[in-house]
Amino acid sequence: MSEAVTTAPPKVQTVPMTRREFLYYIWGASMALLSAESVGAIIWFAIPRFKAGEFGGVFTLALSELPEVDSGPKAYPDGRFWLVSLGDKTVSDPRQPKDYPVRKGVQAIYKVCVHLGCLYKWVPTNNRFECPCHGSKYLLNGVRIDGPARRNLDMLVTQIVDANGKVLAETKTGDTNRDDTAGAPLEIPPGAAAIKVNTGKRVVGANNSKPGGGK
Ligand code: FES
Repeated sequence: MSEAVTTAPPKVQTVPMTRREFLYYIWGASMALLSAESVGAIIWFAIPRFKAGEFGGVFTLALSELPEVDSGPKAYPDGRFWLVSLGDKTVSDPRQPKDYPVRKGVQAIYKVCVHLGCLYKWVPTNNRFECPCHGSKYLLNGVRIDGPARRNLDMLVTQIVDANGKVLAETKTGDTNRDDTAGAPLEIPPGAAAIKVNTGKRVVGANNSKPGGGK
């Protein structure tokens, strides 16, 4: 019977790291860490973070907060918007320029004048919005009828939801110069419980530059 022959594993020769290599690896690791931090910082600042109930975020309002139909607008200064309820009186207002369809429903109108950015006001005696800076004037549905502004007011994207938060109706987005249903008011559907106004999402008003209003 022959005896098993055991052979010792070959010796692995290790070459010690030189000082130059060590410094090179440290430098590489530092650069990788710095790059990761920079990318993280860019992402952190680039992604907007808005809380609900502050400008840039979503405002959730009970339907009971809506203004009376065809009454003046209701101001939400924190969200920089007006809420309006448009009914028969607004639709049949003879001052409405013919170039823009007038629909009934609810709309959230951005509170900043589309001329040079002043905060315009509602003037009940004239039943219209008026800008104190250069005199632009807009009807309750945001359509410009006078002044140096060259388009209608901007609308904020709005949703109407039921008690479970299911979206029943939503503002259509798009180019208001090509699609006259973009930014249009929303009729309150059955089962509606609340309205959500997204102050971070605007629909730019259609071009409007004729005297008295019109394209
Ligand atoms: S900023 Fe409103 S009319 Fe000029």
